[in-house]
Amino acid sequence: MRVLGIETSCDETAAAVVEDGKRLLSNVVASSLDLQVPYGGVVPEIAARAQMEYITPVINEALKQAETDWKTVDGLAVTYGPGLGGSLLVGVLTARTLAIIHNKPLYAVNHVKAHVYANFLTEVAAPSVKSGKWRVKRVGNSSSLITPHYSLPTKAPAFPLLALIVSGGHTQLVLFKDHFKYKLLGQTHDDAVGEAFDKVAKIIGLPYPGGPSIEKLAPKGNAHAFKLPKAKMPGKYDFSFSGLKTAVLRTSQEVIGKKYDFPSSKIPSILKPNQQADIAASFQRVAIETLVDKTLLAYQEFKPKSVVIAGGVAASGELRRQLNDRLPIKIEYPDIKLCTDNGAMIAAAGCYQILHKQKPADAYTLDIEPNLSM
Ligand code: KG4
Ligand code: ZN
Repeated sequence: MRVLGIETSCDETAAAVVEDGKRLLSNVVASSLDLQVPYGGVVPEIAARAQMEYITPVINEALKQAETDWKTVDGLAVTYGPGLGGSLLVGVLTARTLAIIHNKPLYAVNHVKAHVYANFLTEVAAPSVKSGKWRVKRVGNSSSLITPHYSLPTKAPAFPLLALIVSGGHTQLVLFKDHFKYKLLGQTHDDAVGEAFDKVAKIIGLPYPGGPSIEKLAPKGNAHAFKLPKAKMPGKYDFSFSGLKTAVLRTSQEVIGKKYDFPSSKIPSILKPNQQADIAASFQRVAIETLVDKTLLAYQEFKPKSVVIAGGVAASGELRRQLNDRLPIKIEYPDIKLCTDNGAMIAAAGCYQILHKQKPADAYTLDIEPNLSM
């Protein structure tokens, strides 16, 4: 069974073909990230315009790399929320049109839940040829094709499954009893952890997206240089990162000898490289420790058979290191290329909808849901 997955919730335009929910036949990702960097974050209009430009070539490339034509596609899966309205519309309207003209069932996928399905991808059809990441560098300019290697888990996770979903928009601990049967144990009350990485990077003058920038600099700093707070929440599995972000701002103002009304935009030009590295390392340690503290607590209470991490922050080496050190269970991680937004996780989630006989969406009426929750 082959599903074409389409993902356009933010600044990535992605399509992939997945077989039987586990075999990656292609995975194509175009990103408007280069166009967003000067603004220090995603500008929705720029993202939506790039989606319009990339969507058709990306889908064609995903089918080509998978050596799949419409006859051998059993269904389409598309992200319908949560995400940016304009970006979501491009993916959903494209998927609806393709489903209608090729007469294929269409499956509506929740982006946040789909991140978990990156963990179910355990095989690549032909690594050297078929696992391309196709990146369009600039709107209108030439594109380049990169064919990376994938390092995948050896087997699919088992239920009950504890999932730590951590991205630029979400921070959640979820216990899955089975596919589509889950309980939300806790979530953030304010900033998502990825958002905190992005905001802290901006405060100390590191480029967007903040997660990879902070991860790169952190080894040069002292992770215990500053005592930063961990939020105490009423819910055992709830999170909060806005206090930590403010503590980073105050710490940055203090180390450069300024008062708390000193504008944050002027901090990067005064901060010395060693101070910047110490703040990055201290923040990363505390942010990741907070995630691992609660994951360990949930592991001890619910004794799941598997623990998985999902979402952009799951790419963090520090998160993987701390989980390995502190959790008494072997955790297998998805390839970093499958942690950030991609079409393969959407296609895999679509495959499981088919396998579990879920009802397809109506291709004539499926609407976007920018504020969709778990
Ligand atoms: O899942 P994703 O690609 O998009 C959303 O759905 O939000 O996640 C993007 C987020 C960004 O906030 C980025 O800073 C964060 O994931 N991120 C990381 C790392 N790589 C990406 N955070 C920490 N460490 C990383 N290595
Ligand atoms: Zn995402």
